[in-house]
Amino acid sequence: MKPDLLLTNIGQLATLQGHSESPKIGADMKELSIIEGGAIAIEGGIITAVGPTAEVLAHITEMPDLPPLEFPNMLATPGFIDCHTHLAFGGSREHDFEMKLAGKTYLEILAEGGGILNTLRSTRAASEEQLTRNAFSFAESMLSMGTTTIEAKSGYGLNTASELKMLRSIEDLRRKIPAGLVSTFLGAHAVPPEFEGRPDDYVDLVINEMIPAVSETGLAEFCDVFCERGVFGLDQTRNILLAAKCAGMKLKIHADEIVQLGGAELAAELGAISADHLLMASDDGLEAMQKAGTIATLLPATAFSLNTTYADARKMIDMGLPVALATDFNPNCANDSMFFTIALACYKMKMLPREALSAATINAAHALDRGAMLGSLEVGKRADILILDCPNPEYLTWRFGVNLVHTVISNGKVIHTKLGP
Ligand code: NIG
Ligand code: FE
Repeated sequence: MKPDLLLTNIGQLATLQGHSESPKIGADMKELSIIEGGAIAIEGGIITAVGPTAEVLAHITEMPDLPPLEFPNMLATPGFIDCHTHLAFGGSREHDFEMKLAGKTYLEILAEGGGILNTLRSTRAASEEQLTRNAFSFAESMLSMGTTTIEAKSGYGLNTASELKMLRSIEDLRRKIPAGLVSTFLGAHAVPPEFEGRPDDYVDLVINEMIPAVSETGLAEFCDVFCERGVFGLDQTRNILLAAKCAGMKLKIHADEIVQLGGAELAAELGAISADHLLMASDDGLEAMQKAGTIATLLPATAFSLNTTYADARKMIDMGLPVALATDFNPNCANDSMFFTIALACYKMKMLPREALSAATINAAHALDRGAMLGSLEVGKRADILILDCPNPEYLTWRFGVNLVHTVISNGKVIHTKLGP
């Protein structure tokens, strides 16, 4: 075997092996399967050997053209998988902050035509190229902080042409950036102003025009709905997601974020791959998710930006729910750092750093239906590897929120590295 790239003498190599079929739950979430002094061989973007350095070297018949890269005292993990983002949009929303400080709630700002509806106006006004350029710069920032796979939602166009424009810009970005992209149709993110007072007519448009158009172009793998009081109710969400399921899309729900509506129960009922947010989810809803195998995707930066209570990650892990973590990068929560997300998960949701790493890698891969290919460092999986300038996982809570990236390898290629040791 002659690898293209060889990484050796890695201080701690967290493989997270053994969970390609199903996500980690319970006590397994803190088991990272660490190899001390590990090595990884890569060929054609795929991991071909992983193990203690001496064992991996014994497999190699011919050394790569490049000398091996050595990472003593560092921690290698799978690349972060940011499984919930609103990456593409026009404009920015820094002025919402003053309204928030003045005491306006998220739903009040939305009801007054701000929030999502503000971004709707700038997204409709932006060209496809502008959307791609904006998204490119955010995605580049994510890559520099170790994220090698990004889920990206539409949802700021809210008519067929503008939703398709958003999804095409995500598709265009896929060709331009060395990261994996997974696209999600979120036509039901808000009721646009032209449908004010007629939300069911908008739901009909989503079901009868947008979903067929999206499915015909193949531009989205998932369909998501913002199921929330004053946005889309349970029946509307169910109808949209059933139509999307019939059209071949996989399902996600923004569930029980601000008000307890029963989104968690609905996610379980419909066989959604994940229910996301869950700050207010009921115990019955969480139990239904646990039975159905629905992943709880938690987004603590959103709770931070809304200055609200956090989802009860500790309860969810202890009851055996698979938990994933993501940034929820969006114009209301414009932080694209998985390090910040992990810090909040540990400090505010009482997750252990090892649990947070499982949630940000292998469980996030499952939340995107990519567990077989991504999320752990095992033979046959895509070589998306993060080398952190950090000796062990616990160090992440000490240097909380800091970008500890030394080297990022995406699809077997070094796409970012520090010059120094
Ligand atoms: O996941 N809650 C709904 N959607 C986004 C926020 C979108 C926005 O405010 O622009 C979220 O938090
Ligand atoms: Fe979101």
